[in-house]
Amino acid sequence: MSSAFGKRPDFLPFSRPTIRQVEIDEVVDTLRSGWITTGPKAERFEKEFATFTGFPHALALSSATAGQHIGLIALGLKPGDEVITTPMTWASTVNMIEVAGATPVFVDIHRDTLQIDERQLEAAVTSRTVGIIPVHYAGAPADVDAIMAVAARHGLWMFEDAAHGVGCFYKGVHVGCFDRLGVFSFHPIKNITTAEGGVLVTRDGELAKKLRALRFHGLEKQAWNRYAEGGSPQVEIVLPGFKYNFMDMQAALGIHQLASVGEFNARRRELSALYDELLADVAEVEPLAVPAYDHFHTRHLYVLKVLESARLTRDEFIAELKARNVGTGIHFRAVHTQPYYAGKYPNWIGNLPVAEWVSERLCSIPLFPLLSEDDVRYVVAAVKDVLAHARSAGAPARN
Ligand SMILES: Cc1ncc(COP(=O)(O)O)c(C=O)c1O
Repeated sequence: MSSAFGKRPDFLPFSRPTIRQVEIDEVVDTLRSGWITTGPKAERFEKEFATFTGFPHALALSSATAGQHIGLIALGLKPGDEVITTPMTWASTVNMIEVAGATPVFVDIHRDTLQIDERQLEAAVTSRTVGIIPVHYAGAPADVDAIMAVAARHGLWMFEDAAHGVGCFYKGVHVGCFDRLGVFSFHPIKNITTAEGGVLVTRDGELAKKLRALRFHGLEKQAWNRYAEGGSPQVEIVLPGFKYNFMDMQAALGIHQLASVGEFNARRRELSALYDELLADVAEVEPLAVPAYDHFHTRHLYVLKVLESARLTRDEFIAELKARNVGTGIHFRAVHTQPYYAGKYPNWIGNLPVAEWVSERLCSIPLFPLLSEDDVRYVVAAVKDVLAHARSAGAPARN
């Protein structure tokens, strides 16, 4: 390492949740209350989430994946159906299509923003297509109007993957339910966390009723207080459901996290702006571009593409940053290249050139509200040091 670069003694993680005394006190209060699973705090969190996003129905769940699972069941997805989605997502988006026995159909992405390329949607529609799952990648919205236009022309539903999108707006409207359904994630790296957790949002009361039953064993009446004073221990199962409920232990975190989402996202935006400024003259790595349409970005991730001129591979870049005590992430390996999907659907390989090209080059660098400006400066200094070493090692630029 060059003499100008001083390695920090501690490891800087790629992400770290913001857990304050207020969350700790609320969890302790829940533990002492005698009611630790789904209960009054979960109900309060759902109401507050519905108010925050502006959607009438918000159903909290054990994870966004659980929401994707029951959401697709409630939309009636069945074997033989096709669902169009992006390969640039976490696997659960595609896994849940597959679990339903339906077939994922991939559409390539924009090279600069990594959002689904809405211009390619029309050509992907067949007589079997029933819906589209766009992903609001990294906290910026996909081009909802363009996607909705294709959906409307072909009578398709849209189920938004807004896992990265708490606080994200498209043309002044919170993302999540421009059509039938949307899902958010509260996994620890997300913009707010409940340790694990997610929320489904919909404007459709009948769909919400079905989802409530699917979420919890098939009970139509949500009887979380059936063991409490005044509750009734009788239940009625109206369909075979799952056990994907959200606990008060999670809601204890979520209530305070949600109250701070504006502050958290503002901090993420400040830190991202500092990265943008400090990386502007580093030609070998390319940050994500922001979409041209009106939106509010949650800056969920700060993603770099490690370009050919860097003279080292993305995996070497990650290893070199780790050697300098900087943690990173990969968001994402294109799903169709994962062994299961490449084995089952080999024809996609080679047919999603942008996703495949970026899949080998993406690296997310640390971004979370507790990061300091000095941490950001350190990460950029580490990136520059890694690149300077690759240059001086004299490796030829890759193709
Ligand atoms: C785009 C996307 N969709 C869905 C999920 C699944 O979320 P969860 O971990 O809450 O199930 C994730 C989580 O990483 C994600 O990034």
